[in-house]
Amino acid sequence: GLKIVTIGGGSSYTPELVEGFIKRYDELPVRELWLVDIPEGEEKLNIVGELAKRMVKKAGVPMDIRLTLDRRKALEGADFVTTQFRVGRLEARMKDEKIPLKYGVIGQETNGPGGLFKGLRTIPVILDIIKDMKELCPDAWLINFTNPAGMVTEAVLRYGNYKKVVGLCNVPIGMRMGVAKLLGVDARRVHIDFAGLNHMVFGVNIYVDGNNMTEELIDRLTSGEASGITMRNIVDLGWEPGFLKGLKILPCPYHRYYFQTSKMLAEEMEAAKTVGTRAEVVKKLEDELFELYKDPNLDIKPPQLEKRGGAYYSDAACSLITSIYNDKRDIQPVNTQNNGAIASIPNESAVEVNCVITKEGPKPIAVGDLPVAVRGLVQQIKSFERVAAEAAVTGDYNTALVAMTINPLVPSDTIAKQILDEMLEAHKEYLPQF
Ligand code: NAD
Ligand code: G6P
Ligand code: MN
Ligand code: MN
Repeated sequence: GLKIVTIGGGSSYTPELVEGFIKRYDELPVRELWLVDIPEGEEKLNIVGELAKRMVKKAGVPMDIRLTLDRRKALEGADFVTTQFRVGRLEARMKDEKIPLKYGVIGQETNGPGGLFKGLRTIPVILDIIKDMKELCPDAWLINFTNPAGMVTEAVLRYGNYKKVVGLCNVPIGMRMGVAKLLGVDARRVHIDFAGLNHMVFGVNIYVDGNNMTEELIDRLTSGEASGITMRNIVDLGWEPGFLKGLKILPCPYHRYYFQTSKMLAEEMEAAKTVGTRAEVVKKLEDELFELYKDPNLDIKPPQLEKRGGAYYSDAACSLITSIYNDKRDIQPVNTQNNGAIASIPNESAVEVNCVITKEGPKPIAVGDLPVAVRGLVQQIKSFERVAAEAAVTGDYNTALVAMTINPLVPSDTIAKQILDEMLEAHKEYLPQF
């Protein structure tokens, strides 16, 4: 049987992961699932862990759920390690989202200045996990879900020298579900050629039963006020019809931050004044979820979890793990080393592309290149991720300032410096390298 370790086990997403393992138990016999957290997360870990135990008992699968704060003990002999932690927890996310807004800049916890700081806090921790893994489970796969997943995967490849890493995001599966709904077909009939970076991925071609439906989809997408394709955490502003018709590929929901910057900024400013930033909304959702999780009669994943942006996360994570374990050689979009899949991105960098999933890991499918219209933006974001990862590793102030300034959501070097200084101060507890 398999030993799986989930770091950040106290996450409210854990029941979804447990459900995914239960569903696949016959082909993916997870004998031990170790949920790891830190002392600040112990209460959440216990609540979620007890629910997980009730879920496996109800399902009648012999999966042992182990709860621990001892990461090294958990990692010993692991086959797969999944990561879903948040350094500084939701309070840190609140700062990531709110501080930039004071300067008229979108914070965004994965793409903007917020993403930079989430990366600066996360990368040292993930590299420490890698160090432990090399010693305690050197053959294990690291399935990283922790955001910013693209930057984190890049850092693990470049600075951790660990090749058995796959970065995972639910945006591609969310886009496939959204396309299926818009076209009124079962999602299993939809195939999308994905290419780009994490939260910067495009549907380059969209097929239904093997027929290319990209043009029809773009017509449908641009026919109303809203596009019909988004995530729970991103407002669904419609696209300018001529823009998508000219672009001829499907952007992901996160592209709104770049192509609709002023409208998105206005939305975020308004939300901050009314319902609160996404972190504040999530805080309420999370409190509600944990109240439900505490109920000793609850023994399934509650449907309320679907209000979080990470819907279908377990499907993505469990499908990936079972395809590696069973050498399925099916196609899944994941974050992996480019190796020539996208021509204008360096071979050794992380990209988010369709891959054939084998027991040796994901084999990226070559796409040639992205359309010239978006190539520059994708390269710019890759440069941002690389400079940010370098800043996270070195703790060099000027490198961090460069990363902040080259982020497309930040308008100038001076505003970058103001945001950087205030955020370095606000997050200093979690930034020992600076
Ligand atoms: P959360 O705030 O509930 O954090 C999860 C757990 O991580 C908490 O219990 C916390 O105590 C723990 N933690 C914090 N620092 C830790 C450390 N150093 N070691 C071990 N555990 C630690 O977060 P969440 O909302 O459940 O999200 C978890 C992570 O998953 C975030 O990084 C989020 O961005 C990411 N996420 C990614 C996707 C994706 O598409 N890749 C989707 C959803 C969430
Ligand atoms: C999306 C992204 C995730 C992100 C999540 C936020 O689905 O793919 O990377 O973490 O939404 O959701 P939340 O409910 O925390 O705002
Ligand atoms: Mn994601
Ligand atoms: Mn800029």
